[in-house]
Amino acid sequence: MIKIENVIKNYKVGETQVHACNGVRLEIPDGAFVSVSGRSGSGKTTLLNLIAGKEKPDSGKVLIDGVDIHKLPDKQLSKFRNENIGFVFQSFLLEPSMTALENVELPLIIRKYSKEKRREIAKDMLEKVGLGERLYHKPGQLSGGERQRVSIARALCTNPKILVADEPTGNLDAKTGEDIMALIRSLTKDCTFVLVTHDEELARSAPIRIVMRDGKIISKNG
Ligand SMILES: Nc1ncnc2c1ncn2[C@@H]1O[C@H](COP(=O)(O)OP(=O)(O)OP(=O)(O)O)[C@@H](O)[C@H]1O
Ligand SMILES: [Mg+2]
Repeated sequence: MIKIENVIKNYKVGETQVHACNGVRLEIPDGAFVSVSGRSGSGKTTLLNLIAGKEKPDSGKVLIDGVDIHKLPDKQLSKFRNENIGFVFQSFLLEPSMTALENVELPLIIRKYSKEKRREIAKDMLEKVGLGERLYHKPGQLSGGERQRVSIARALCTNPKILVADEPTGNLDAKTGEDIMALIRSLTKDCTFVLVTHDEELARSAPIRIVMRDGKIISKNG
């Protein structure tokens, strides 16, 4: 269970203070599929980053299975993230100089798996996302949809309990986007899945739907 307790995150740039998350409270049960929508600048990415431990709140707590993740020392937080959370981004964020296989292996290197084991898991995962024939391609040699499939393989090769995705289909054409979503859904049956999306139809397809505005959750259904 993910429990977000009155989380506040402000950003200050010069004299301007932005309330990116302004008192968010939310409980997400294990295995739930939650969509987060809302206009640009409403705090969706900030909320995902707080859940994924990439940003620290100014106040409030993010509890994952009872662990107050932002109280963990940096090293333990990195370990916790590596063991529990996968992240997929709109812009893929792959290492351009590395092959698909090497990109997928990255989180497994952090886990200190042997080279053989890493290779085996990464290869298996790339086969699952339909890229068994593209193992040695670098991101620049792959299509957009293929790049996103590499990043999905990277996010899921550690078998995370939670997958967070920030507009994973935002840079893809409609058909490729649908295929990518179907792929994510088929691979996250046992995961808690938090999806930020501007696509209304996609947002509506989630059993739990959240809408944000000005750093607050203005509606929650499901
Ligand atoms: N690192 C940062 N420094 C300063 N301000 C930031 C930072 N990150 C986000 N913000 C501000 O916080 C607000 C919320 O940003 P956030 O990225 O969470 O919005 P969003 O809902 O994801 O928007 P979009 O749909 O455009 O991706 C915005 O007004 C943004 O300008
Ligand atoms: Mg965003």
